[in-house]
Amino acid sequence: MKNILVTGGAGFIGSNFVHLMLERGGFETLINLDALTYAGNLDNLADIENDPRYIFVKGDIRDAGLIGSLFDKYDIDTVVNFAAESHVDRSITDPLSFVSTNVVGTQTLLDAAKNHWKVDPKDKYSNEYKPGVKYLQVSTDEVYGALGKEGMFRETTPLSPNSPYSASKASADLMVRAYHNTFGLPCNITRCSNNYGPYQFPEKLIPLMINNAKADKPLPVYGDGMQIRDWLHVKDHCAAIATVLEKGVDGEVYNIGGNNEKANIYIVGLILQTLGKGEDLITHVKDRPGHDRRYAIDNTKITTQLGWAPAYTFEEGIAETIQWYLDHQTWMEKILSGDYQNYYERMYQNA
Ligand code: NAD
Ligand code: TYD
Repeated sequence: MKNILVTGGAGFIGSNFVHLMLERGGFETLINLDALTYAGNLDNLADIENDPRYIFVKGDIRDAGLIGSLFDKYDIDTVVNFAAESHVDRSITDPLSFVSTNVVGTQTLLDAAKNHWKVDPKDKYSNEYKPGVKYLQVSTDEVYGALGKEGMFRETTPLSPNSPYSASKASADLMVRAYHNTFGLPCNITRCSNNYGPYQFPEKLIPLMINNAKADKPLPVYGDGMQIRDWLHVKDHCAAIATVLEKGVDGEVYNIGGNNEKANIYIVGLILQTLGKGEDLITHVKDRPGHDRRYAIDNTKITTQLGWAPAYTFEEGIAETIQWYLDHQTWMEKILSGDYQNYYERMYQNA
């Protein structure tokens, strides 16, 4: 691993990954390509922007010309694709942008990787690649659909996505699989459960509820709040991705999760308790259409085959995360004063 192209590195998980890689080292240059959509925020990277190993490029993963020029200019040998439209609720109102970024964007990156890394790109029967190259697709457990009360997602669980978001991520995964099977592209897919931690955009459950609780505003819980997610600290997710880059077997999928199944209503209660606020702030609103009831990850493959394990317990991770949001008021204020306010009004006005 010499020169890494990280896409979507100004978002929640991507910015945590950039921080982690700069701490770990072991490469020459890290190029962060991000379109800076509403979810991209360079404030997340303010402390490392002058690191000589770090380069930021504002651009779109669907821009084949730009991607090709980055591969040439920086001699990219590793791609980690975080860039995506990532919010289920937004995918319900605007599915097309999810197909465009998540599917077409992924295919554009795969094509660039194939064309730059194949020893003879013109020979369609050759699967010979430059040594040490790797494409890693950051995916989600949501591609597997929803679980009932029992069971867990394994890498062999059939894909059965339910939202336009998860359908677009599943489509992207299948494109990665096709580039591996048809063209021999060295690649991995990681499928992680719900992340929490610093720098998460406040449209997602945990930062949204912290914000509202702080301001004594209603906490909008969808339906009965008994939907279950398998929460993992973002730093554990990023460490797992770094492990897959180092040790992942080409063509393999790795599930990433921390065995932390929690109902939404439990998390909301915990936030209220930590902030010393009353449960009267909880407001049950109309459920999300097609809302997946339960996710749970079986992480046996990555723990036994690659030796990764989560470092955080949920209790210490969530306490640290709540404190982080309390300590980063200015970071949050900048987001809340922008277009996010309009989204919030539209999203919750009829719920
Ligand atoms: P995010 O929305 O916080 O960040 C996405 C980033 O991608 C933003 O910086 C945005 O500007 C950038 N981006 C969007 N469209 C782009 C484009 N066309 N070209 C270049 N950049 C673009 O998302 P996140 O929560 O950090 O998720 C990152 C990845 O991890 C996504 O692929 C998501 O599907 C996956 N994932 C997320 C979770 C989670 O709990 N958040 C869990 C599992 C997997
Ligand atoms: P979210 O953070 O949007 O992640 P995902 O939908 O990808 O799992 O939501 C996590 C859970 O919280 C999900 O079950 C939906 C629920 N939720 C609410 O109950 N209220 C809210 O305002 C939000 C944003 C989410």
